[in-house]
Amino acid sequence: MFSDCRSLIFWIAFSSLAYAGSSGLGQPCSVSRNHLDPNSHKLISDCSELGYCSGSVNGTCVPRTCRRDEFPFGYTAADALPPLCPPGSFCPDEGNGCRAQVSPGGACQMNRDEQCARAVNWQDFASSDNFYGSICLHSICMYANATTACVIDNTTYTDVGFNGRLFNTVVVRDNCRSPQLYCGQDTLVCERSKVLGSSCQIDQECQERNCLSGLCTEPPETPLHVAPWQYVLTAICIVGAMMSTCLLLTLIHKRHRLKRYRELREYYMEQSTLRSSIVALHSAAAGTGPRLDSKRK
Ligand SMILES: *[C@@H]1O[C@H](CO)[C@@H](O)[C@H](O)[C@H]1NC(C)=O
Ligand SMILES: *[C@@H]1O[C@H](CO)[C@@H](O)[C@H](O)[C@H]1NC(C)=O
Ligand SMILES: *[C@@H]1O[C@H](CO)[C@@H](O)[C@H](O)[C@H]1NC(C)=O
Repeated sequence: MFSDCRSLIFWIAFSSLAYAGSSGLGQPCSVSRNHLDPNSHKLISDCSELGYCSGSVNGTCVPRTCRRDEFPFGYTAADALPPLCPPGSFCPDEGNGCRAQVSPGGACQMNRDEQCARAVNWQDFASSDNFYGSICLHSICMYANATTACVIDNTTYTDVGFNGRLFNTVVVRDNCRSPQLYCGQDTLVCERSKVLGSSCQIDQECQERNCLSGLCTEPPETPLHVAPWQYVLTAICIVGAMMSTCLLLTLIHKRHRLKRYRELREYYMEQSTLRSSIVALHSAAAGTGPRLDSKRK
C-alpha cells in the first residue's frame, strides 16, 4: 500500500503528464476551462506546463512566475526555471505567483497542505501525515490536532496498470492527531491507532499507517533494528578475527627467526670445525717440519 500519499500524488502527476494543456506561450487560453483531471486530480489548464493563463476569457498563456518543485515538470535543462516561493508563502498549481499561506478555514487547492499556515505550536502535532501540523481536507485548511470530532477526505486516484486495465487507489486523510489517532470512517470521531498485529481495514487505522492483508504491519521502508546481542556478537567476531591474525603473524615470525637461528648456528659450527681442522693440520705440519729439517742437516 502507498503509505506516503505525497509520493503517490507525485507518481500520478508523472503518469498524467500527457494530459496537460497544449497551448504554448503566447497562445490564447481561457481560465474557465481549468479543471482537475478526474483520474489523477491534477489541475489541467489550456496552457502547457511552462505557462499559465493570464485572463479569465480571452487570455494568453504567459510564462509561470513561480514553481512548487525543485525540479518542475515540462522544463528542459536549457529552460530558465521560475523561482521557488519564500517561507510563509506558496506557489499555486497554476504557477502564477507566490501567495501568503492561508489560515485555518481558508480555501486551499486540493491536497496542497503546504498552502496552509502553521500553528504557533505546530511542533505538538506535526507528523509525516501533515505539513508542519496543517492539512488541506476538502480544499479547506485546518490544523491536524483534532482529538474528538474529525474530518475525513477520501480521494480515489485511477491509473492504467501494466496490463492496460484501470486500477484505483483510495487515499484517506483526516485531521486527527497522528500517528496516535485516526478518524473512524463511520463514526467521524478520532480513535486510537492500532498497534502492530491488530486487525485493520485501511492503512490509516494503524500506528505505522500500513495495513496489509487485514493486519497492521511494519511498512516496507522501516529501517532494520539490530538487537544489542547482535552488536556484541559482531564486535566479538571482529576483535577475535583481529587477535587471531596478530597471533598467527607472530607465530609465523617466530618460526622464521628460529629457522634463521638454526641456519646461523649450523654455519658457525661448520666454520669452527673447519677452523679447528685447519689449525690441527697446521700444527701437525709444524710438528713434523723441524725433524725433516734436522734430518737434512
Ligand atoms: C474575446 O475575443 C473575441 C474574439 O476575439 C471577442 O469577440 C470577444 O468579445 C472577447 N471577449 C472578451 C470578454 O474580451
Ligand atoms: C489545535 O491547535 C490550535 C492552535 O494551537 C488550537 O487553537 C486549537 O484549540 C487546537 N485544537 C484542539 C482540538 O486541540
Ligand atoms: C471512504 O471510502 C471508504 C471506502 O474506501 C468508505 O468505506 C468510507 O465510507 C468513505 N468515507 C467517507 C467519509 O466518505
